[in-house]
Amino acid sequence: MEKNSNQLMEKIISLCKRRGFVFPGSEIYGGLANSWDYGPLGTELKNNIKQLWWKRFVHMRDDMVGIDAALIMNPKVWEASGHVATFSDPLVECKKCHHRFRADYIDSKNCPDCKGDLMEAKQFNLMLRTFLGPVEDKDSIVYFRPETAQAIFVDFKNVQETSRKKLPFGIAQIGKAFRNEITPGNFIFRTREFEQMEIEYFTKESLWEDSFEHWRSQMQAWMTNDLGLDKNNIHELDVPKSELAHYSKKTIDFEYDYPFGTKELYGLAYRTDFDLKNHFKEAPYRDEEAGEVLYPHVIEPSFGVDRSILAVLCDAYVEEKERIVLKLKPQLAPYKVAVFPLLKNKSELVEKAREIYNHLKQDFVVAWDDRGNIGKRYYSQDEIGTPYCVTVDFDTLEKGEVTVRDRDTMKQEKVTMKDLKQYITEKMYAN
Ligand code: GAP
Repeated sequence: MEKNSNQLMEKIISLCKRRGFVFPGSEIYGGLANSWDYGPLGTELKNNIKQLWWKRFVHMRDDMVGIDAALIMNPKVWEASGHVATFSDPLVECKKCHHRFRADYIDSKNCPDCKGDLMEAKQFNLMLRTFLGPVEDKDSIVYFRPETAQAIFVDFKNVQETSRKKLPFGIAQIGKAFRNEITPGNFIFRTREFEQMEIEYFTKESLWEDSFEHWRSQMQAWMTNDLGLDKNNIHELDVPKSELAHYSKKTIDFEYDYPFGTKELYGLAYRTDFDLKNHFKEAPYRDEEAGEVLYPHVIEPSFGVDRSILAVLCDAYVEEKERIVLKLKPQLAPYKVAVFPLLKNKSELVEKAREIYNHLKQDFVVAWDDRGNIGKRYYSQDEIGTPYCVTVDFDTLEKGEVTVRDRDTMKQEKVTMKDLKQYITEKMYAN
């Protein structure tokens, strides 16, 4: 089947809804345009991605620490960062139907919907605003953060002094960001509320290129090893100077071949000392021993959580003759194992299966299914990416053996109950 098709995207969206990965937000009230809720399986997948990211980029490294900052910050932050003045997209409105578009996304002078004349383009600020406290006046305007990055800059001195990190080192954060996008769409690709995993890596100016290369390869490793994306579906785009964000001297976009086209997945930017200089009147980095006082320069690897999920789902989705399979890396799969009693009406099988299920639950996220025939139960787990299914049958009662079926090869193996955890762990990490 064509990987690039609207039809494929529709199938993925339908699977997400049918199986509880992602639902339309506020659905019972007719929805809210482009808002999505993660269901039970989507939440597991999302948490797995965030945990793996934190492990790779914070826990496994000596030069990284993490923060979790307030989402609404003093509005002066966004003035200093340049977002109030420049975080905008060009907006055009049709004089006839009044539909609005991003001027840089349409290639004609007329309205794409009704061919009417368009008004002149205006800059539209993308920050979502609200009022803090009971009085709604200009002094109580605040913004929902449009990126997690700024809190890292604002907290730089506190983090550096308390963690006593020396250059080069980085600060990571995972959290929600909001943008009043003019043209959200393509499922969870572009929404107005989304989640980011960001790193600001602080180094000396003379070393920025080394850091940039280091993070470029780290991002590639994350995409191919941790997320398991096919490297043929990932492309690097050197963003032309004219399109760089207001803070960046160099940016690479990592693009992914989504079913609706090749578009941005992540970004890697060299932000110079732009942000720290804007926020701190005096150089915020001091190393008494080395006699250094300076404004560090910043390399920023920025990852969208929702786009990670979308790319993972698109890459993993496979249609075979008789089944749909999500070939997720086992570490990402919502359930690692499913346990089935062969027959629902044989209480000794159900009891033994429950015992095994509870035993496995101490170490893995485990599904339970006792409905219908085993073949159907396998296919049902394949569709949500469960890598291993364990069937409890009469051999289990007599010989202490279960049947473990592998999602990808569909091969079945007999494994003794006492070796089961070890067997699953080894298989999981061999993948
Ligand atoms: N701090 C830098 C920054 O925010 P960005 O390229 O604007 O850079 C970084 O955003 C990442 O956040 C993107 O590569 C994408 O993965 C994700 N992202 C940005 N806008 C998004 C949106 N409206 N919906 C979903 N994800 C988005």
